[in-house]
Formats: sequence, C-alpha cells, structure tokens
Amino acid sequence: MSIRIAPSILACDFGAFAEETAAVLAAGADWIHVDIMDGAFVPNLSMGAGVVAALRKRFDCVLDVHLMVERPERFIDDFADAGASIITVHAEATPHVHRAIQAVRQRGLMAGLALNPGTGLDAVRELATDIQLLLLMTVNPGFGGQPFLSSSVDKVRRARQLLDSLGCADVPIEVDGGISPTTIGPVKAAGASVFVAGSSIFGAPDYGAAIASLRAEAEAAR
Ligand code: DX5
Ligand code: ZN
Repeated sequence: MSIRIAPSILACDFGAFAEETAAVLAAGADWIHVDIMDGAFVPNLSMGAGVVAALRKRFDCVLDVHLMVERPERFIDDFADAGASIITVHAEATPHVHRAIQAVRQRGLMAGLALNPGTGLDAVRELATDIQLLLLMTVNPGFGGQPFLSSSVDKVRRARQLLDSLGCADVPIEVDGGISPTTIGPVKAAGASVFVAGSSIFGAPDYGAAIASLRAEAEAAR
C-alpha cells in the first residue's frame, strides 16, 4: 500500500493557515490532516468547518478531517459541505458510529473509523466492510506534541491482521500522534501506511527535509 504523509495543521502557525498549508504541500505532503476538537470529547478546542471551507477554497488537495467531537453525526453535513475529502469519526464518541459512517458515505466521501489507545478492535470487526480508513491513535487525542505510545505497534499489527482476515486488505491504517522519523518505522512495519505528523513537520526548520525523512524511514521499514 502506498505511503501517505499527512501533516497535521494543528501544529502550524494559526495566523497563517493558508501559507503553512501551501508550504507543506509544496514540501511533498500527500494529505492535509485537520484536527477538529470540541472541548468535550477531548479536553481542548481547535477549529471548525469554517477552516476546512477556507482551505478548500484555496487547495485541491485531500483534506483528511479527524473529528474529535461528541456525537459527530451532528456535523457530517457541515464538514462535507465545507469540502472534506475524508471524515473520520471516533467509535467512543457516539452510540451510533455505524450511522455516522453511513452518513459520511452517503455524502460520497471516504469514511474513517478512529480508535483511542485504550479502545479494543471490536468495532473494526463490525465495521470493516463499511470503512475506507482505520485511524489508530498512537497518543491520547487532544493535543499535539505528545510522546508516541509504543504499545500501539502491536495494536497496529493486530488491526492489520484483522482487516486482512476480513477481506479488507485495501483499508489503510492511519496512525496519529507522536509520529517522527524514529517512531514511523515500527508502525509502518506493523502495517500502517498513512502517517499523520504535526510537531515533527511544523516544528522542523525545513518542512521538505522533515517530510522526506519521514518518507525515507517509512519506506526503509520492513
Ligand atoms: C492529536 C491529534 C493529532 C496531532 C498530532 O489529538 O489528533 O493529529 O495533531 O500531532 P503530533 O504529531 O505533534 O503528535
Ligand atoms: Zn488527528
């Protein structure tokens, strides 16, 4: 499966969303990851659908929207209207995650299922054939810049095996949190192919070098 590097604009200069997005796209980013936080599902607030709409007006890229909000089904249409390409919802955020995923698919978008580090893979078993992306959090969601949880590597491996065994080998696993040139190799080897990175890209002096180094380490990992 081809490797995708998805810079998280949560880590960019908020005074310059457009310039920062243009810079990482020019530097080789595959997708732009947009973290939406509601101050309830996670203890932090970030941005809303208006930011997605503003980015969509300027860029033709994949906008990978990660909803860290309670009852995300309330906002699917807002983010679809704003121009999201992918909408990912957390299994923990709603009793109706199946309905939320169907709502994303009805809008013709890629639907992602996200799981916190403490959540087991049961929902993957139930929803594997309904999703186009599985996002495994490799930190507890809410903030950028947290250390990678090394226990995630085995979870990625188990999730990859489960998806493959259910006939869903084409569903990519995205990992999110603490991804750096040192942590990317083990999760790639375990079966992830989409890599969200915030601080390791936007905190680097040269975005192109940071993305190239992530890609090189991922490509080298077996
Ligand atoms: C965490 C967010 C992540 C975060 C990643 O809640 O979902 O996307 O921005 O940032 P880093 O790469 O700095 O851990
Ligand atoms: Zn995220």
